[in-house]
Order: sequence, then C-alpha cells, then structure tokens
Amino acid sequence: MALRLVKTIAAPLLLSALMFGSVSAQPDNAGEAAAATVFTPVAPGPTLAAAGPVAAPLFASKCAGCHEPASGRAPDREQLRARPPEAVLDALTDGVMRAQAEGLTPQQIRSLAVFVANKTFSLPNTRLADNMCRTNPVIRPTASSWSGWANGLAGHRFQPNPGLTATSIPKLKVKWAFAYPGSAYGQPTVIGDHLFISSSGGAIYSLDAKTGCVHWRHDAPVGARTTLIVEHRPGASPSGWVAYYGDLRGIGAQGVGHYYALDAMTGAQVWSLEIDRHPYLRFTGSPVIFRDRLYIPISSLEEGGGSTASGCCTFTGAIAAVDLKTHTIVWKSRVMETPHPTRKNAQGGQMYGPAGGAIWMSPTIDAKRNALYVGTGDSYSEIESGRADAIEAFDLATGQIKWATQVTAGDNYMSGCPRAVSCPLGAAGPDFDFGASPVLVTLPDGHDIVTIGQKSSFVYAVDPDTGRMIWKKAMGAGSPLGGVEWGMASDGRFLFVANSDQLAGTRGDSGLIALNPANGETIWRVPPPKVSCHFLTSQTCRNIQSAAPSAMPGFVFAGTTDGRIRAYQARDGKIVWDFDTTGQTYNTVNGVKNQPGGNIDVGGPVIAGSMVYTMSGYVGPATSGGNAVNVLLAFSVDGK
Ligand code: HEC
Repeated sequence: MALRLVKTIAAPLLLSALMFGSVSAQPDNAGEAAAATVFTPVAPGPTLAAAGPVAAPLFASKCAGCHEPASGRAPDREQLRARPPEAVLDALTDGVMRAQAEGLTPQQIRSLAVFVANKTFSLPNTRLADNMCRTNPVIRPTASSWSGWANGLAGHRFQPNPGLTATSIPKLKVKWAFAYPGSAYGQPTVIGDHLFISSSGGAIYSLDAKTGCVHWRHDAPVGARTTLIVEHRPGASPSGWVAYYGDLRGIGAQGVGHYYALDAMTGAQVWSLEIDRHPYLRFTGSPVIFRDRLYIPISSLEEGGGSTASGCCTFTGAIAAVDLKTHTIVWKSRVMETPHPTRKNAQGGQMYGPAGGAIWMSPTIDAKRNALYVGTGDSYSEIESGRADAIEAFDLATGQIKWATQVTAGDNYMSGCPRAVSCPLGAAGPDFDFGASPVLVTLPDGHDIVTIGQKSSFVYAVDPDTGRMIWKKAMGAGSPLGGVEWGMASDGRFLFVANSDQLAGTRGDSGLIALNPANGETIWRVPPPKVSCHFLTSQTCRNIQSAAPSAMPGFVFAGTTDGRIRAYQARDGKIVWDFDTTGQTYNTVNGVKNQPGGNIDVGGPVIAGSMVYTMSGYVGPATSGGNAVNVLLAFSVDGK
C-alpha cells in the first residue's frame, strides 16, 4: 500500500480503485523500468488538525466500539498510536479492517489513519536506482540455499548446510540492511547468491544475497505476502528460472486472487493464473512445489465480515494444485462442504454455513504417502462441519481428503461478535486456528508422525495414514494470537516450538520449547528474556515468541516481538547469540538513512550461505507497533 502511494497515481484515485474494484487484475509488468524509479516523498496527507474534526466523530461511531476500550484481539488506542498511518491505511483498505471501513470515502480513511496513528503520512526518499547491482550473474543454487517457507517438503524449517558453527554464530553482525515501504510479511528465499522477497507494498525484489544490491524490482498493483518459490524449469521462462507468488488478496467485490510466474533473472512476468474468487480472499501461506505442481493454500479475511449487514459467510478454505507445465489448475479441493443459506440476520441479511477453515500456512508434503497435510482455521458460522480447526490430509493426485481430524469443535469466531450484526449463533469460539505448518517427522523407530501446533498452544502428533491422535501437549494457555501462532521447526531429533500466548494475560507462558517428537516430552523451555524495547512504550513492548523458528545442526534461531533475534543451542536451549534489531538505526544499502528496526513476527530467520536473514518491523495485528518502512537485515560472521 505504502509503496503504491508514492507512484504516479494520485492516492485517492488509487484508493477508490482499490475499494471499488476497478483495478485490473493483471499487474503492470514494469520490472526493469520500475527498478529505476526514484521514490519521492508522498504528498503530505491531512495534518493532525485537519484530521481531527472529521476523524474523531468517525472513530467514535465506527471504531471505538471495539478499540476503546479494546475488546478481544483488537489493539487498544495506545497500540494503534504506535503504528504509522500507512499501516492503519493498509488495514482499512487492504487488510483486516476492510469490512469495518466499508462505505467510507478514501479521504475519510486517510483522515482516520492520521487520527488513529496520531501522525501524518511520511515516507523516506528512497533512491532504489542508486543501488542497482552492476551485474546479474546467473542463479547458481548451492547446498546452502533456503527455498520457500520451510526449506523442504516436510515443513522442518531446517538448513542442513548453514556454513555457520558454534564458534562463528556468536560473531554474527549486520552485514547489510535493506529498507522498503510497506509492511514486511514475506520471508526471503535464497538461492545461491540471489535473494527474493515480496512485500505488502506490491514490490517483489531480487537482491544480491551477499551485498543487498538490487537485481530487479517487479511492481505488482497488489501487495504480496507469500514467500517466493524459485525453481529452475528450462523453457518455462526466457532464463529458465521462475519465481512464483500469490497476491495479497483478490481485489473488489468479486475478489479475484491470482498467482504469478516471473522470470527470476529479470522480474518480467511470464504468466498469471486466477486461482480463486471471494470478496475476502487472501493468500497468506507460501506455496510448495512437488513434481511439476505448485500447491497453493487459500485463506480469507471473512472473519472480519461480522460487521456486514448484508450477511455472512461464504468462504471455505482450500488447496489448489497448479500444473507448472501447462499453468492450469489440476484440482482445487475445499476443506468443507459448500456453504448453504441458513437464516436471516437481524437486519434481514442472508446468513450461510458451514464456512471458514481457512488455510493460513504452507502445506507439508509426504512423498511416500502421496499426501499433503495442512491445519485449518476456525469456523465462521454455527453450522458444524467437523472440518474447522482440523488437521487434514489431501491426496496429491486427486485432491481428495484422505482424512480430517478435528481438534476443536464449535470454534465459531468472528471479530466484533457477539455485538456485530452477522455473528454466528450461540457462544463465540476461542479463535484457535491452525497458523503453523505441519512438520512431518521420522522417529528413531522408523515410524512417521505429522506434528502441528495450534493457537490453543497444543502441539499434536497424528498418524499420517489415518489421522489418529498419537499424543498432544499444551505449551501454555493459548489465545487468539497463539499459543503456537506461526511455527515450529525440527532438526529431525527435536521439535522446536514458538509459543506466543500473546493475549493469555497472566496465564500466558511465551517461550521457545524443544520437544521429543516421539512422545511430546519437554526437553527444554526458555522464556524470552525480558528486555526493554527501543521502539515502543513500556506498556506496548512485549517480548512474545510468535514468529516461526528456524533450525540448523546444533542450533535454533528465533525472533521475538520486541525486535530481538537469538540463537539457541539445540541440546539445552542455551542462548549463544542475542541481537537487538531495534537497538540501533541502519543506513540501508538502498539509501535510507537512520532507519529503525521494529518487531519480529510471522516469518522466521532464514539461514543460507553462511548468513542469517531476518525482517525487522512487521506491521500487523499480532504485534503492537511497526514502521512504515521495514528493514531486511543480513548477518554474517563479523559483518564481513
Ligand atoms: C467489530 C469490531 C471492530 C471495529 C468496529 C473496528 N475494529 Fe479495528 N480491529 C478489530 C480487531 C478484532 C482487530 C484485530 C484483528 C486481528 O487480529 O485479525 C482490529 C485491528 C485493527 C488495526 C490493526 C490492523 C493491523 O493489521 O495491524 C487497526 C489499524 C484498526 N483495527 C483500526 C480500526 C479503525 C480505524 C476502525 C474504524 C473504522 C476499526 N478498526 C473498527 C476490531 C474492530
């Protein structure tokens, strides 16, 4: 969003296009040309004084009901003030608050954003053109690459050849920092010396992994959140290298969500394909490639649709399988039956069910069983499908569901309910989606198990053939922002679990935990050390272990929402490296001076080619602050 505002289209025009669905779903394929774009500061938005008269009554009537005082997952006024106006605008036009902002004009939304953030719009003068790489050598994969969300099919988030050791890890220092407008969702993919990253602002980058210079930038009209998948497929693009990603959501009333293939050497678009349609469609989890097919998880923001007077909910989670030779959809399989009309809400709007079961995470592939595993999100209606908050196995060939093991029934959750007009009947559920990818582990006795963590804080282990529960164990109290929010990792021997417990209050027990995958026994548990934040007030600074961890032989890397990234010894949890990404500002390689870091959430550290990469400055509902500009930090031994 933020990035789009600095382009030539006038912001209100663009916003209205976004809100009313007139933007073409085809991205302007302006990779190389756009790379030379010089960012200019955005035209000043309304001043605080100007925002006041319009915004205060708007806030009181449209927003205060959930935000003052804050109810459920909603951030309170202080947490909202910690955000930049760009992030609030993003949430209202493109994000979780889209339903709440329905009917507002672009100008009203801008005013609200300034009012809520208590700051005017600002973006740095980023001169991307200054840092184009001089050459773009051919991509050369190495044994130390990191591809996609989990770096492998089994969901392990494991780097077998890190090029780092017990003696070199404590010497990790920032080698380069890269700034870009728009909140950071994606996790980098690193293939040899090429790094690929998406952003919610719409820019897709290929950077030199060792120096951070820009090989190309592709400007898509819609932001992206998925990690890019890059592969060599001769003939599939002019260079034979292809990068795949999905856009942030479908635009407009029809909500058409696309996937794109770019030439990974130039950023030029090779093809795009419509994957699904729904007004609240969203691609969050990263796709995986297996045997000529791209498997795409499909999610939604319809959980915010409770405020819609015309009724709710019609979305159901799904997996799509795309043939990469023909770029066509081979199958699309929904996790539950098609929603049917059920009743009218108090304002006469049509209600539907069952609905929900969004798939937020990257799927896990079991080549031996020809199966794909996911966890599903909560239910949006009172109609019980048995398929929300479930672990499910799909047949790779046909998309048929082989088994589904529901772990939480009746989790009927919508933001703003029970006050909103289109709420499920009866008591609200606890909001215990699965957000973290399954991890397929082979135990020492040769048996395979599928393990997965839930926002309830439970980690489950099920039989991959039948879905039968083998063990389950609570990591903490669980809450609408986890429990296990984004991830687990495994070195094959242990499971490493990040437990957030962000909204669990005094019962919360955040931390990094190592489990024995055979029986769920705790090997060690380390709470995030309490330290001061450099970017938030004492009330909003939280040291929450929410982002996904990543493993390498002997060590685990994990970040916390106070902006810390740490390395832990795998055998005992001893912290051997602890870096405060908010403890300094960065002069970034692309010309932004004094760029601060921020919180670390969602995506985890990427370990590749003797370096470690992390985003710092995630803006999202799971955290209490963030920057309009995010920084990608690259660490190497002694910063060399
Ligand atoms: C029906 C209740 C409700 C109403 C009304 C509401 N919000 Fe929210 N808001 C929430 C909840 C719940 C969240 C957290 C969303 C999540 O965690 O997915 C949230 C999150 C946010 C965020 C953070 C989103 C992010 O991605 O970081 C912003 C900003 C926000 N709301 C602004 C507003 C504004 C401005 C209004 C008025 C136009 C508004 N909200 C109206 C419930 C509400």
